[in-house]
Amino acid sequence: MRPAQLLAFVAALPSTLAAYKGFNYGSTGRDQAAFEADFNSAKNLAGSSYTSARLYTMIQDGTTNTPISAIPAAINTGTSLLLGLWASGDTFANELAALKAAIEQYGSSLGPLVAGISVGSEDIYRITPIGIENHEGVGAGPAVIQNYISQVRSAIAGTPLSGAPVGHVDTYNVWTNSSQNALIGDCDFLGVDAYPYYETTKANSIGNANATFWDDYSVTVAASQGKPVWITETGWPVSGPSSGQAVASVDNAKTYYDDVACHAFAKGVNTWWYILQDTGASPSFGLVGAGSPPPTTPIYSLSC
Ligand SMILES: *[C@@H]1O[C@H](CO)[C@@H](O)[C@H](O)[C@H]1NC(C)=O
Ligand SMILES: *[C@@H]1O[C@H](CO)[C@@H](O)[C@H](O)[C@H]1NC(C)=O
Repeated sequence: MRPAQLLAFVAALPSTLAAYKGFNYGSTGRDQAAFEADFNSAKNLAGSSYTSARLYTMIQDGTTNTPISAIPAAINTGTSLLLGLWASGDTFANELAALKAAIEQYGSSLGPLVAGISVGSEDIYRITPIGIENHEGVGAGPAVIQNYISQVRSAIAGTPLSGAPVGHVDTYNVWTNSSQNALIGDCDFLGVDAYPYYETTKANSIGNANATFWDDYSVTVAASQGKPVWITETGWPVSGPSSGQAVASVDNAKTYYDDVACHAFAKGVNTWWYILQDTGASPSFGLVGAGSPPPTTPIYSLSC
């Protein structure tokens, strides 16, 4: 094809084709059967199929450095993965060992499922003044993350994961601090976490939430040096306490979903929503109620 024809062809492709659509999944207490139950419910959710999973760690709960059982669960259910290595504290060597072991064990069946590899999650946020004030715990600075990114690139070189984009997830206000410029230069993608519900220094009622979220997203894009910006966490609680002007309710969660999730899907932005099931948490961000396996009927309609 001549370049002009190629461009016309590319422009005609629906941008949603390539986008990943998934949920965030913690590791605590989950074995392979639990991950499979989650992934199957997410895939079969009425009104909206979610076929990707973002993880925070490579390590199976309760082990030193055994690969997380979300990997065989993803292979069995055809779920793509945004892998994560926990980068705060002193467990990174185990994260890297688990990544290498996963490549060794699952290599060619894992490779095509990997949407990306996030080195860390909100590590820099946790050591900002706001993170410290909120007692968020141990974090890590950008130079540490850069070092870990280079270790991950070495670990995947020449393996079935060599084509995986490597990046970092942090909050929008971290990405917009110019102290992150060198780190951004080392990333293939930026994951952004943004929750207008928690942004209590702004007028954060549900009426402003869509505008606030997309402002957070666009300031991150402006700081991204042209790297793709993926939505790695957002959501609105169905129940729990108010936060500033933000009221947790099913109606408001549905409004937020209709505005933010549906717009992200229409734009073809890779999105990992928070969260499929959040039983017992307060605030509770879950799209489905209690039950194991998670119910496939959501609390509110997810059709866009
Ligand atoms: C920006 O980053 C610098 C260096 O890490 C830090 O000292 C400063 O507090 C950050 N600014 C904000 C608003 O977080
Ligand atoms: C949400 O914000 C986006 C980005 O500014 C905008 O395009 C969209 O129309 C907004 N949605 C609603 C329901 O206002």
